[in-house]
Amino acid sequence: MTESLSPDMLRQAFHEVVASRRTIRAFLPDPVPQEVLDRCLESALMAPSASNLQPWEFIVIRDPELRQRANAVCLNQRGPATAPLMVALVAHRDICKRHCDFILQTLQERGILRKSQERYWGRIMPLIFTYGPFGLFGVIKKAISRMGSLWKPMPNLYSRADVRVLTHKSTALAAATFMLALRAEGYDSCPMEGFDPWRARKLLKLPRGAEVCMFLAIGKRAEGGLWWDRMLVPKEWVVQDPGEDMGGKP
Ligand SMILES: Cc1cc2nc3c(=O)[nH]c(=O)nc-3n(C[C@H](O)[C@H](O)[C@H](O)COP(=O)(O)O)c2cc1C
Repeated sequence: MTESLSPDMLRQAFHEVVASRRTIRAFLPDPVPQEVLDRCLESALMAPSASNLQPWEFIVIRDPELRQRANAVCLNQRGPATAPLMVALVAHRDICKRHCDFILQTLQERGILRKSQERYWGRIMPLIFTYGPFGLFGVIKKAISRMGSLWKPMPNLYSRADVRVLTHKSTALAAATFMLALRAEGYDSCPMEGFDPWRARKLLKLPRGAEVCMFLAIGKRAEGGLWWDRMLVPKEWVVQDPGEDMGGKP
């Protein structure tokens, strides 16, 4: 929490950052200073994640030759072609043990480790992230949880596809936080899902269980980089809020 801004200024600054973040598709050649990138990464790493597992990795692509190959993987889109920097955001399904052990150890060092937490990060999370060869164990787990839910509310026991969704959800939140942090620093980004996932994995030498969630082209916006004014679908299509008058009932 910043101490230098009043609540009003903080609110205004935040909404301005959100409103001014746009997808930019043409960049100036000015480099992104290392200290700016570091601050934005530090903010992005504070994004919320399922069970605090932080299943992401940020791969900063500086090397011009690698960037050119990444551009090709991104189907030679105009955004990345002009950006001075690219970052690949990778979602990992293979970090469960390392990150669960880290959480348990941290809680222990802080002297606040409870039995329920030992069970959660020591047994439940590893079970959730286990789906066996060809995802078969995951299919069985999923069937068990689906059947159980016919009788009473039941946690999803997660197939391989569910674990993928889980890791991509959290990684996308980190990406959003990163883009907003860049904007707060006066920099812009172009998130990209338009890429060849197999070539992306090969280019970045990703292990099994890791996938690029999205690429981000980063830099300062150039003239013509904003293709259109913001287009938002009507709020009532996407927000269900009966309002306080209805006593919170839809
Ligand atoms: C997950 C994701 C993938 C996207 N992929 C691409 C892409 O491959 N190429 C592109 O030009 N824009 C891409 N975009 C940008 C969207 O088109 C853009 O966010 C949307 O049109 C809204 O515009 P705004 O970001 O300026 O508000 C992507 C955005 C997201 C969140």
